[in-house]
Amino acid sequence: MNLILLGAPGAGKGTQASRIAPKYGIPHISTGDIFRQEMAKKSDLGSQVESYVKSGRLVPDHLATQVVVQRLGQPDCRHGFLLDGFPRTVAQAEVLDRFLTADNRPLTSVLFLKLEEAEVINRVSSRRQCERCGAVYNLVTQPPRHAELCDTCGGKLIQREDDKAETVKKRLLVYDDLTEPLIAYYHALGVLETVDAGRPVDEVFAAVVKVLDPLSRK
Ligand code: AP5
Repeated sequence: MNLILLGAPGAGKGTQASRIAPKYGIPHISTGDIFRQEMAKKSDLGSQVESYVKSGRLVPDHLATQVVVQRLGQPDCRHGFLLDGFPRTVAQAEVLDRFLTADNRPLTSVLFLKLEEAEVINRVSSRRQCERCGAVYNLVTQPPRHAELCDTCGGKLIQREDDKAETVKKRLLVYDDLTEPLIAYYHALGVLETVDAGRPVDEVFAAVVKVLDPLSRK
């Protein structure tokens, strides 16, 4: 199962990935999470990507592809992977194709989580994340049991810096401009599956499983 999750910011990629990865026993690789972890560690990579991530612009292709190619080379990815937030440009997709083809690891499926822009803005503006363990909540649709505290580890819930209204608008423009063309790209390759992401989390997951279960038996 070599999978990609595609969708606008806030479409629910991370939420679904945290269910898909354990169900199919594959690692969840989120470039956004990797960049945020590196920024928190104040590593070289973190300082190179920080201004891009905080302002809602894309990190340069060569840095994003380098991170993913290195990660896909690790042993836990040999039997499958779930990419979340990568690729985000046609140039990134082409590098990924070349890498996977050379390694004889064809893509199994690209799941496009389709969501209206108004709902994207609603979801992102009410998202909160645990600053300690990274768990994701939504003040409206998936609230924590105790206000501002993580159910799992008790860490403080914060708003991501790039979830502020102005930055979200910028991220959506970047998505329309650079990432949306990937829908046609993967459609042409015959691997695209579209899932209506405008439903409750469990229903979206059930639709995803309906697509993936038959593929996992091949
Ligand atoms: P990244 O972290 O990948 O951000 P994103 O793609 O904008 O996606 P999000 O994390 O915002 O949303 P999501 O789709 O995972 O939604 P979630 O499940 O949290 O990237 C951040 C930045 O890193 C980029 O802007 C860029 O700078 C850089 N970057 C990353 N990858 C890159 C790359 N390849 N190239 C270049 N730069 C890159 O859900 C959102 C909210 O909705 C949550 O509150 C959740 O609880 C709620 N929710 C989820 N599903 C549902 C549902 N079905 N019903 C109701 N509520 C729901």
